Amino acid sequence: METFEQVKLTSLSSKGGCGCKIGPADLMEVLRNLPAAMPNRDLLVGLDTSDDAGVYRLTDEIALVQTVDFFTPIVDDPYDFGQIAAANAISDIYAMGGKPLTVLNIVAFPISTLDKRILSEILRGAADKVQEAGATLVGGHSIDDKEPKFGLAVTGLIHPERIRTNAAAKPGDRLILTKPIGVGILTTSIKKEQLSLDEMKHLTKVMATLNKTAAETMESYQVHACTDVTGFGLIGHALEMAKGSNVGVRIHKKDVPLLPRVRELAEKGFVPGGSKNNFNHVENHVTFPEEMDQIDRWILCDAVTSGGLLISVSEEDAESMLEELKQAGVEAGLIGEIVMEKPGHIIVD
Ligand code: CO
Ligand code: CO
Ligand code: CO
Repeated sequence: METFEQVKLTSLSSKGGCGCKIGPADLMEVLRNLPAAMPNRDLLVGLDTSDDAGVYRLTDEIALVQTVDFFTPIVDDPYDFGQIAAANAISDIYAMGGKPLTVLNIVAFPISTLDKRILSEILRGAADKVQEAGATLVGGHSIDDKEPKFGLAVTGLIHPERIRTNAAAKPGDRLILTKPIGVGILTTSIKKEQLSLDEMKHLTKVMATLNKTAAETMESYQVHACTDVTGFGLIGHALEMAKGSNVGVRIHKKDVPLLPRVRELAEKGFVPGGSKNNFNHVENHVTFPEEMDQIDRWILCDAVTSGGLLISVSEEDAESMLEELKQAGVEAGLIGEIVMEKPGHIIVD
């Protein structure tokens, strides 16, 4: 049996790095063959808008927000992995404007060949984040599996009239992003032993940070749409917003907050396959400046784990919300705006 101290968690994952979600094209093909669901007037947000979580109305004042997310280890420290997986799963509740209420753990673990203390640490990391979010762990399910995987199913509450979908951004809105990007490139670099201990700690802290403060801050402003930036990358999620809201999105590359050394490590060849796939998938719907090289295009499409919120806020509120976010310690940036021209399309400058 490999013990706690010997195991590099990321080496146990067959692919790793990106969380390895099934791409949108494959998903669409699979879902196409499902029988059409009976229409239900209480299903406020369902499968059809590529939103962060489903929303189901219980009464005129209360709706459930439900989401689930799990993946293979992206860092070696099990406690950190638990924290990141939990922050990532809970994020989809925040992205809808909801408050997390209860969570269930989802566990796959090689229980006969791997030190059980590793799993204890993963669960402890998650439990700490769940507590920080003010939610309650109510149970879970585990299977014996060669490749460790971990995540949460999360249920939250929201007022049915205060749902922040990705489908209501308005021309004139400003776009605020609440965490730096480059996570896919940096986690790939960890596996190639390119990061110092301090750099790894910083990256872990960014991923383990809850989107709680960002979500609470946006409550007092005129926010029209919100999503969180995860596997499909900044451009991929911005494009979902552009399509869902039938608007154009303009992104200013120089204003997008980046993690340290992203450009350098991307140049060294550490852009993960998932990020390149993201680029291939969105390329036809994005106008990049002619002089922008492939590296910068990949960076904007880089697959993120536990990224920030992408918030579409009214023009008059944008500056004060940004200021309040920064005061609260959120590494936010004003990265672009919503425009009328080219609906369903992104323009990068
Ligand atoms: Co999401
Ligand atoms: Co998700
Ligand atoms: Co949303």
